[in-house]
Amino acid sequence: MLGGMKILVIGSGGREHAIVWRLSRDSSSPTLFCAPGNAGTAALAENLPLKADDLAGLLAWAKENRPDLTVVGPEVPLCLGIADLFAAEGLRVFGPCRDAARMEGSKRFSKEVMTAAGVPTALAEIHTKTDEAIAALDRFTLPVVIKADGLAAGKGVIIAQTRQEAEDAIRSMLDEGVFGNAGAQVLIETFLDGEEASILALVDGEHTVLLPPSQDHKRVFDGDQGPNTGGMGAYSPAPVVTEAMLPEIRERIILPVVRELKKRGITYKGVLYAGLMIGPGGSIHVLEFNVRFGDPETQVVLPRIGGDLIPVLEACIDGTLSDDLVTIRPEAAATVVIAAKGYPGAYAKGTLITGLEEAAKVENAIVFHAGTARKEGATVTAGGRILAVSALGADLRSAVDRAYATVRLIGIEGAHYRKDIAHRAFKA
Ligand code: AMP
Ligand code: GLY
Repeated sequence: MLGGMKILVIGSGGREHAIVWRLSRDSSSPTLFCAPGNAGTAALAENLPLKADDLAGLLAWAKENRPDLTVVGPEVPLCLGIADLFAAEGLRVFGPCRDAARMEGSKRFSKEVMTAAGVPTALAEIHTKTDEAIAALDRFTLPVVIKADGLAAGKGVIIAQTRQEAEDAIRSMLDEGVFGNAGAQVLIETFLDGEEASILALVDGEHTVLLPPSQDHKRVFDGDQGPNTGGMGAYSPAPVVTEAMLPEIRERIILPVVRELKKRGITYKGVLYAGLMIGPGGSIHVLEFNVRFGDPETQVVLPRIGGDLIPVLEACIDGTLSDDLVTIRPEAAATVVIAAKGYPGAYAKGTLITGLEEAAKVENAIVFHAGTARKEGATVTAGGRILAVSALGADLRSAVDRAYATVRLIGIEGAHYRKDIAHRAFKA
């Protein structure tokens, strides 16, 4: 049955599969498209052979096919202005306009907005000249954080333990241009200690609804060891963010940013994702903002939202968002990312994935595809992060156990995953 609205989801990762999956369960039975999608989205939506940053191709498709709603997954098309382009054609988009997307696209802009709005964040200086940046290090203690201003695919932040590392980071960005134009300005920032958490806030230009707190696992190995990745797992709720902190996050962080942007003539609509550092004494600081759903946080947050999602996304566009539109299920959720051999370094593609049918039978578990493709009737790997296996449970322990029981049904030669998802919550 072709029913309901026509909805286009842009992106190809686990986050986008989770968005497509969640929309597919809405009572209005929408007809779904995903550009470019993966083998998981193909089961619920029509995949379109258009890359997420192919704005011209996406716009041409949308002008011809007139989706009732477009949901943008990744930051790159948002920072390139896809929401503005679509809106100019009368197309409804969930996601911020280009100026608003600078909250993620420029760490300098984001820091300026936070400072003007009085949002608690690490002190920072901005530099474009190497000698001045290096001299500025005298005003910071070690460790010190060096950040490229622009989008650097998650690699633009260096926590320097020594003066030498800090100077090397500054030179690599300003002199050697390792991040190209994204590193033409650097932020030197105070190091903040504590535990990280993610808050995905829905915003309609004026109002906000905070989705339940979650926590990502950025390092590749157990015990938070090894290099950073795009995220190896997540869980929600994250007890490091207490119920009592939520009003503070809303009143002192999210709403002040929305109002400060408004003052600058920028209307923020979509998800404003606050990456928080919760200090040992319960202090809250913003590390960064993202302008989209998190990956893999979405794979635990969306399964916890009850009722229909489409009216919530539409309320963000229409400026009619309110708390009573969003219901949160009491169950906890966890997701375990299965990554390809070698990830986050060079990794193989095209490896056969087995066990997906068995895994699909597990109740209250959902296998979200991230880097997968269909090849000759089989599902094969096509990315570093291959699957995000999510599960709900009456409590976090049962959610985690169910996610791992499902992971063990899946076979991918050489693949690896963390065995300690949610360890911080269990230690607490
Ligand atoms: P960002 O892209 O700004 O979130 O930075 C990426 C990661 O670097 C964060 O998730 C933190 O783990 C770390 N980080 C960034 N800024 C700081 C800071 N000021 N203090 C400590 N860690 C930081
Ligand atoms: N989970 C981190 C991010 O989505 O940026």
